[in-house]
Amino acid sequence: LEIYLDSTDVAGIKNLCPALPLAGVTTNPSIMAASGVGLYDLLTALTEVIGPHGRYHVQVVNNTVEGIVAEARKLLELPFDIIVKIPAHTAGLSAIKQLKKDNIPLLATAIYTVQQGMMAALHGADYLAPYLNRIDNQGSDGVGVVADLQGMIDRYQLPGKLLVASFKNVNQVLQVLKLGVGAVTLPLDIAQQILTTPATDTAVEKFSLDWQATFANKLSFE
Ligand code: E4P
Repeated sequence: LEIYLDSTDVAGIKNLCPALPLAGVTTNPSIMAASGVGLYDLLTALTEVIGPHGRYHVQVVNNTVEGIVAEARKLLELPFDIIVKIPAHTAGLSAIKQLKKDNIPLLATAIYTVQQGMMAALHGADYLAPYLNRIDNQGSDGVGVVADLQGMIDRYQLPGKLLVASFKNVNQVLQVLKLGVGAVTLPLDIAQQILTTPATDTAVEKFSLDWQATFANKLSFE
């Protein structure tokens, strides 16, 4: 299982990174635009925070087949572990088909339907990103789409790994983990919630009080 953060907030990522088994970071053009930071500077800063093994899923902004293919090749010239994110619309699927002939590492993104994910998987996409919460918001069943897609990938033994995106609560994350998906990308607030359990904090507070009442500042081995 790979866990990513879906953010360009370097300070926020730095804050969560030590407690997370973090594979890397995903972005999209909206997230990039909100930060206003260019890709090279962003990935340099993130590498300082995450370390040399961070993997970065970076989305193309071209929308034509030729444009996507050229942009993907340029992205891979950067000195980082980059997976090229390509929307699974018609032009994107054509570009994915072309790029996989050269074994370019890529992720098919903005997946709303099982059939769309299947097309990208059959072209050999390394990762597939269904947009769970956005599917729910359309009146469909995001977890159901993820379950069906995972089932088909397993049944046809396709190489693609589901990297589920667009979460709005922890329960959605747990539901797709139960399905055995290969990866998730989390907004910072959801990751923070996963790392924080108030009942545990309360329990630890009581342990400290009880210990100090008898042993003051002695440590456990003293
Ligand atoms: C990730 O790759 C997607 O771009 C992102 O998770 C979409 O999430 P949103 O629906 O919260 O914008």
